[in-house]
Amino acid sequence: MSKVTFFRGQQLPLEMHKVRIIQKLTLLPIEERKEAMAEAGYNTFLLENKDVFLDMLTDSGVNAMSQDQQAAMLMADDAYAGSATYTRLYDKLVEIFGMEHFLPAHQGRAAENIISQVMVRPGTLVPMNYHFTTTLAHITANGGEVAELVIPEGLEVTSDHPFKGNLDVDALRRLIDERGAEALSYVRMEAGTNLIGGQPFSVQNLREVSAVCREHEIPLVLDASLLADNLYFNKVREESCRDKSIREITKEIADLSDVLYFSARKLGFGRGGGICIRDEELYKKMRGYVPMFEGFLTYGGMSVREMEAITVGLDETMDEDMINQGPQFIEYMVTELDKRNIPVITPAGGLGAHVDAMRFVDHIPQNEYPAAALAAALYVCSGVRGMERGTMSEARDAEGVEPLADMELVRLAMPRRVFTLSQVNYVIDRLDWLYQNRQLIGGLEWEEEPEILRFFYGRLQPKSDWLEKLVAKFREDFGDSL
Ligand code: F0G
Repeated sequence: MSKVTFFRGQQLPLEMHKVRIIQKLTLLPIEERKEAMAEAGYNTFLLENKDVFLDMLTDSGVNAMSQDQQAAMLMADDAYAGSATYTRLYDKLVEIFGMEHFLPAHQGRAAENIISQVMVRPGTLVPMNYHFTTTLAHITANGGEVAELVIPEGLEVTSDHPFKGNLDVDALRRLIDERGAEALSYVRMEAGTNLIGGQPFSVQNLREVSAVCREHEIPLVLDASLLADNLYFNKVREESCRDKSIREITKEIADLSDVLYFSARKLGFGRGGGICIRDEELYKKMRGYVPMFEGFLTYGGMSVREMEAITVGLDETMDEDMINQGPQFIEYMVTELDKRNIPVITPAGGLGAHVDAMRFVDHIPQNEYPAAALAAALYVCSGVRGMERGTMSEARDAEGVEPLADMELVRLAMPRRVFTLSQVNYVIDRLDWLYQNRQLIGGLEWEEEPEILRFFYGRLQPKSDWLEKLVAKFREDFGDSL
């Protein structure tokens, strides 16, 4: 694995690729960034990319492609039905995961729509290590209820547990004892658990979860969207995986699951998604939804070019020198932030660095959205776009009561193979400045609050003139600098 020790002992992540196509970036003056943030309703989702310097909103659909992916895209076989491109993708999925059936979908949540419509029985539970926003929305829309069973360490911001995404197997057994196996539609395991900081599960944990599911004949559904990072951590943190290849670990993970779905916007450095299914009956039940919601069975809403890119990208995901880039850059960032006492989720996970807004701005109450306020402040002082993952990302219940999130995080995603180490250093430096001036950051309130998935397009406003004060302090400290 490519982490090189330098002469004076410092360990630095080292890219095993070179950049051959670039995109020019602009860094607006802070006054213009403040203006852009106001126009975006203090919601980083609503910023225009032209106003963003480093886009760390997500790693979804923004990972850099390789020359092999680009070359394959030119060879795509355009056909509505039965294209050779589809066959190549199907063969690659069978080669890697070993499940016989595949249904393509336009992205991960479309796969969740199909799985939830077919597998969630109204009034039942779906236990999982931790939910993802779109997963929860689909399961509840189909009358199911999510039971969150992540191990307690998963919700501790700082920990040295190597697999904070593990599911509490005893809790799962207790749930089955109390409610009966028939009260569970399926069990869902999410690789690289997104909302708790990209934290992985261990293969050992999956073995135990799978054994319980098989004992009680409950299907096990794996969300493999963030599998690449999870695999890296299995390889470097788990004794039983050390001598196995990434392909072998992947095959074991797939063998333990009954259904495996993914967002190819993350897995395979592409765009699109799909569902791999072992059982023929289940496949047939799901199949009808693809032409209804996605497109014909051999493209499912994806372009043939994207399918070619995914096929090659899946192979690259099996390359240890390729999947380590994201986690190693994230580890570097987390270590450097931690050195500066900036509260951040530890150990470093996949997906990105997750700053703990609960401690960073501990003077802002949760109902004033500390993570959203911090994300807005960070954009204004740096041009870096992060994402709120806290109370603003929660949904009100039927009575209109707002649940307070377990964690208030600002996610700084690390799209794979995109940023350089000096850009990462810039982010660290601006966060350092912001942390020194954290008392200047204030809360936000809704200006316009949508009912569904409000964090995507809701608009907020500052509760006081705190941003003016922050900009004034920036000018005092940085002079004319951007
Ligand atoms: N599951 C996980 C674990 C995800 O992280 C995502 C997307 C999805 C499912 C849905 O897939 O976007 O292709 O429909 N995560 C993105 C993110 C949105 O920014 O973390 P999708």
